[in-house]
Amino acid sequence: MGVTYSTYLKLDELLAQQKPLSDEHDEMLFIVIHQVYELWFKEMLHELDYLKGLLERRDDMRAQHTLKRVLTILKVVVAQIDVLETMTPLEFLSFRARLEQGSGFQSFQFRELEFLLGAKNPAALDRYPPGSESRARLERRLAASTVWDAFMHHLKGRGLAVPDEALKRDVRQRTALIPALHPLLIQIYRTDPLLASLCERLVDLDEGIQEWRYRHVKMVQRTIGGKHGTGGSAGAAYLATTLDQPIFPDLWAIRSEL
Ligand code: HEM
Repeated sequence: MGVTYSTYLKLDELLAQQKPLSDEHDEMLFIVIHQVYELWFKEMLHELDYLKGLLERRDDMRAQHTLKRVLTILKVVVAQIDVLETMTPLEFLSFRARLEQGSGFQSFQFRELEFLLGAKNPAALDRYPPGSESRARLERRLAASTVWDAFMHHLKGRGLAVPDEALKRDVRQRTALIPALHPLLIQIYRTDPLLASLCERLVDLDEGIQEWRYRHVKMVQRTIGGKHGTGGSAGAAYLATTLDQPIFPDLWAIRSEL
């Protein structure tokens, strides 16, 4: 037989990867949902790498189309939290100890997503053993330009006067406010509806990530309260510090000036 549904999707391999460490009923849901997240992270990285190339090539139409796809995935990813919230604190406690130090903290794909968008944090690399594949992936992402940098070059390529500070920023650092860029962004919003809509999709993306963080921290609060995380952080108190940290701060800042 040629290609079948199962061989194409490698279903035997895929469906053999859910191996609970306890006999507790709810651990299967916990494993499946995390694996689904990692698959969506993989797809989002795939699309956002593509988006970077489209922005660099100034292919506006396809960039907008790709952004729409990523935003739709993000909605699904945020909505999926509802499923995990059907697990009560006691149900989670029934197998939590089996996770030992394991935590979403260590999701290298989530860090890759942050780095690719612009939320770089070199200290995050310390959680991955030197020489490991996950660390090598993050090192590559740390050294590479971000979606935000690609957007800045996209504007420059369209003949707009992007300040040098925005074009030559250190790509290993987290994106930070560049006030010198604001007059140009305001001009775009006032005079160029197509480019302004691209800006709005980037704001959607930034807001979507913040929405995920908010839903995640609420899920953590209702599931483990004020307990520490298995990854060693203060738990919800740590996660609360990651809220309201936009990745594209300039696009938020100009709103008060429009
Ligand atoms: C019962 C469900 C969950 C609980 C109680 C929980 C708890 C936590 C806690 C306490 C942290 C802080 C780090 C630590 O000390 O462990 C954390 C971080 C994280 N979790 Fe979860 N989590 C849950 C589900 C999920 C799911 C489904 C995902 C999806 C991949 C996820 C992804 C992450 C990520 C990416 C971080 C790092 C966030 C950051 O550092 O900004 N978590 N989680």
